[in-house]
Amino acid sequence: MASKEPLIITGKEEMRRWSRAARAEGKSIALVPTMGYLHQGHLTLIRESLRYAEAIVVSIYVNPGQFSPTEDLSTYPSDFVGDIRKLRSISGAGVDVVFHPKDLYGYGRSNSSKIDENRSEGEVVSCVEKSGNGHETWVRVERLEKGLCGKSRPVFFRGVATIVAKLFNIVEPDVAVFGKKDYQQWRIIQRMVRDLDFGIKVVGTEIVRDDDGLAKSSRNVRLSPEERAKALSISKSLFSAKLAAEKGQVNCQELINSVAQSITKAGGKVDYAEIVDQENLDLVKEIKSPAVFCVAAWFGNVRLIDNMEINI
Ligand code: PAJ
Repeated sequence: MASKEPLIITGKEEMRRWSRAARAEGKSIALVPTMGYLHQGHLTLIRESLRYAEAIVVSIYVNPGQFSPTEDLSTYPSDFVGDIRKLRSISGAGVDVVFHPKDLYGYGRSNSSKIDENRSEGEVVSCVEKSGNGHETWVRVERLEKGLCGKSRPVFFRGVATIVAKLFNIVEPDVAVFGKKDYQQWRIIQRMVRDLDFGIKVVGTEIVRDDDGLAKSSRNVRLSPEERAKALSISKSLFSAKLAAEKGQVNCQELINSVAQSITKAGGKVDYAEIVDQENLDLVKEIKSPAVFCVAAWFGNVRLIDNMEINI
């Protein structure tokens, strides 16, 4: 069954007006933030959101604030027309609005590609450096953003937290739905919502995988067929580690070694392989309570992330 045609909104004020009108009609609103190039993982998130609210807003915005100058902002895939077609195919109540802003940091002056060479060592810079009246307010979830992906992507989570806070303020949803594929991101948003008293319920949904186990990601299209085959080592070794842990192998270093070895043997370059507490993301030495095994690895010039919850 085909569903309704989503309304495309590009302006912040129009978005806010639409949300307030929907609320005045007694509807609750769910927001699913995305960067587009939608795949089954995103579509599952959107279907899940239908369970929580009467009106569904999907945002599509490739957020420059979460890419560092050396990262893949310019090559990040996009296909807005295809995205809308996919959203239209969602059966049932469907998506009400696609919020597709052009620039959420645009306050007139921008020298977006310039990196300030004079910054002190260790200070983070990102793709949305501004001069004059540009954007300068950032949300940081200080401890949770440091580990895992935060180590090699120092501006990533402040960019994510900031854009999600902006989207929350513009869309004013009751519920926001995130995928556990980006586990640290999900936990950071939950913490931000708690710490800053956003009145929003944050829902985390399970990872959607291809039939052979590879976690779906917009970046997968950049893998060659050979790289894709090799990248299966991530999910395969994570599944084996989960099984081993459930059978009593709870020593994290041994589990980590076997996952890292499998990925390296397949030709991948491990960025990190860590087992952390599901809630606070603290490193775990021995699995005694719910933990999550998180991995990031490079295949060719594509960085993939994946994780596996281990509930003992
Ligand atoms: P993006 O990578 O487009 O992902 C949008 C949402 O889809 C995130 O919540 C992500 O966790 C979820 N998702 C992606 N692949 C998934 C999979 N295989 N299974 C389940 N969920 C999956 O994450 C972002 O965009 C951005 O950082 C964003 C939150 C939009 C802020 O810019």
